Amino acid sequence: MSWREEAKKRAATEAVKHVKDGFTLGLGSGSTAAYAIKAIGRRIQREKLKILGVPTSHQTQRLAEDSGIPLTTLKEHPELDLTLDGADQIDKELNLIKGMGGALTREKIVASATKEFVIVADQTKLADRLGKNQQLPIEVLPFALPTVMLKIQGIGGNPLLREMKDKTGPVLTDNGNFIVDADFGPIGSPEELNPQLISIPGVIETGLFIDMADVVYVGKPNGVGKLQRE
Ligand code: A5P
Repeated sequence: MSWREEAKKRAATEAVKHVKDGFTLGLGSGSTAAYAIKAIGRRIQREKLKILGVPTSHQTQRLAEDSGIPLTTLKEHPELDLTLDGADQIDKELNLIKGMGGALTREKIVASATKEFVIVADQTKLADRLGKNQQLPIEVLPFALPTVMLKIQGIGGNPLLREMKDKTGPVLTDNGNFIVDADFGPIGSPEELNPQLISIPGVIETGLFIDMADVVYVGKPNGVGKLQRE
C-alpha cells in the first residue's frame, strides 16, 4: 500500500472513534470515506453496535451494505449524530472543496443534517487557499448548462463540463444532473463566491463547504494530525 493509502486509512481509523452505540451516521463518498465505512462495519460486528447510516451516493450505499451497516433515510432521521466524509481541499479555517467524486449535493445535505461533521483526508488535501490548483465542482441542471457556463465566466471562473472517462458524454450525478468543474484560481473569499454561484438559476449546489467541518483528521506518512474548528 502506498503512503497515501496508509495515511487515508490512519485518518479514517481515528475518525471512526467518534462513532458511538445508537448513533445515526451520515456516510460520505470517496476513497478515504470508504476506509471509514469499512471500519464502522468492523466495529458493528465486533462490538454489536446499533448504528444506522444514511449514504451520500449509490457507491457508498453498496459499500455500506457490503460492510454490514444497516441503512436509513433522511425521511426517518432528518437529524443525524455524526457524518464522516472526505474532502478534495481543506483550508486553515476548515472550509472545504468537495465533489471530485460527484456526490457533493447529497454530501452537503447530509452534512447540514448532522450534529458533528468529521473529515478524513491525507495531507495532500491541505491548502492555504481553496481553489489553488483545484477546480470547484458545481452540480448543474442539464437544461440550464449553457447559461450557467456563461454566468460562471462572468464571475471570473473558467468552467468545464465534466466528461466520462470511458465513453463519450457528460458525467451524470446520482441526481441526474451535470457537473461543471470551474477553475477560479485561489479563491479570495469562499464566503462571497458561494452565494454568487448558488444564486445562478440552474446551479443545484456547489462543492464549497463553508463553516461546516468540525474536525479534520489529516493522515501523514508517520501519523495523524487533528484540526478542530474554533
Ligand atoms: C465526493 O463527491 C467527494 O466530495 C469526496 O469526498 C472527495 O472527492 C474525496 O475523495 P477521496 O477521499 O477519494 O480523495
